[in-house]
Amino acid sequence: MSKLLVTGAAGFIGSNFVHYTLKNKPEHQITVLDALTYAGNKDSLKSVLDKITFVKGDITDSQLVDKLVSQNDIVVHFAAESHNDNSLIDQWPFINTNIIGTYTILQAIRKHNKRLHHISTDEVYGDLELDDPHKFTESTPYNPSSPYSSAKASSDMLVRAWVRSFGIQATISNCSNNYGPFQHIEKMIPRQITNLLTGERLKLYGAGQNVRDWIHVDDHNSAVHTILEKGKIGETYLIGANGEKSNLEVFNLILKLMGKDASWLDHVKDRQGHDMRYAIDSSKLRTELGWAPEYTNFETGLRDTIEWYKNNQWWWEPLKRQVEEKYRKQGQ
Ligand code: NAD
Ligand code: TYD
Repeated sequence: MSKLLVTGAAGFIGSNFVHYTLKNKPEHQITVLDALTYAGNKDSLKSVLDKITFVKGDITDSQLVDKLVSQNDIVVHFAAESHNDNSLIDQWPFINTNIIGTYTILQAIRKHNKRLHHISTDEVYGDLELDDPHKFTESTPYNPSSPYSSAKASSDMLVRAWVRSFGIQATISNCSNNYGPFQHIEKMIPRQITNLLTGERLKLYGAGQNVRDWIHVDDHNSAVHTILEKGKIGETYLIGANGEKSNLEVFNLILKLMGKDASWLDHVKDRQGHDMRYAIDSSKLRTELGWAPEYTNFETGLRDTIEWYKNNQWWWEPLKRQVEEKYRKQGQ
């Protein structure tokens, strides 16, 4: 049994981590630390609030972080500003939360000699050409493109430096694009599903050739537990499920699964500095720690996700108008 402090667990992946842990690893005790920013929704944990301790607070609040870290065994650090499009408009929250927030956690981990698992993204590696035969590995040089990915890269560098300089007990994982329930409707897949559910058309950036490497959120979280249980301190593990698909392919699949034709698709303004392709080689995690994903059929996982958004309108509907208004102003 461990006492887990889970930061950012009112967000997409963190809330799924809490549900996954309560179901599959019930021996752990969970405390959540979340600032409930625009991206956080306490309702994502509504069904389990009596089984966890929920603390509303900021990861840059050093006193609060110090106290919570001292009371727990392991910090699983998901909290971040996570949306590339937002990072092109206002950079400060990304610098503050992703860099200063991670620094604040590292200082508390160091002081109290606790274990940290730092959640990061494959976007720290920049992007690949469509015809590049290589994928990202743990030794790919960092080359982030956006304010979001560069702030995440900075946070990873801090974790590595604290391991090397101060001997803290930390591991890092860099995962590819996640999909599944409770994802904010600003992100690509839930935005398109909820567009069709509200009679809007799909909004594809540019020509839609960009490739993302999709993984179901439960597979990401099973990998995080594998690293918590078997990972080597100081190591980085890439998490991916061989799910490369062009955006156009994913849009066509959403149209098919929701019974609409291509006339429901709009091409809109492309993202500035839009990364072309991400692709993960997760051999290290698979061979050294014995992890494998369970959702190997993207269409099945996407169908379940569409069903979830259909059945949980209460969760996303209050946000929809505001999110779309913001995109409309950006020409997207
Ligand atoms: P999200 O935006 O859905 O959730 C982020 C959560 O962090 C929210 O609940 C928010 O309230 C909280 N938060 C933000 N700033 C905070 C602060 N200063 N103090 C405390 N809480 C704060 O993000 P997500 O998609 O769940 O991503 C979680 C983590 O996984 C991030 O570190 C992200 O970089 C990483 N990641 C995401 C993906 C993906 O596809 N979404 C892929 C790889 C890695
Ligand atoms: P997103 O979900 O924002 O994730 P990330 O930027 O971390 O990859 O976007 C995934 C891809 O989908 C990316 O190539 C941008 C594209 N996209 C669209 O085509 N339309 C949209 O409405 C959004 C939000 C994203």
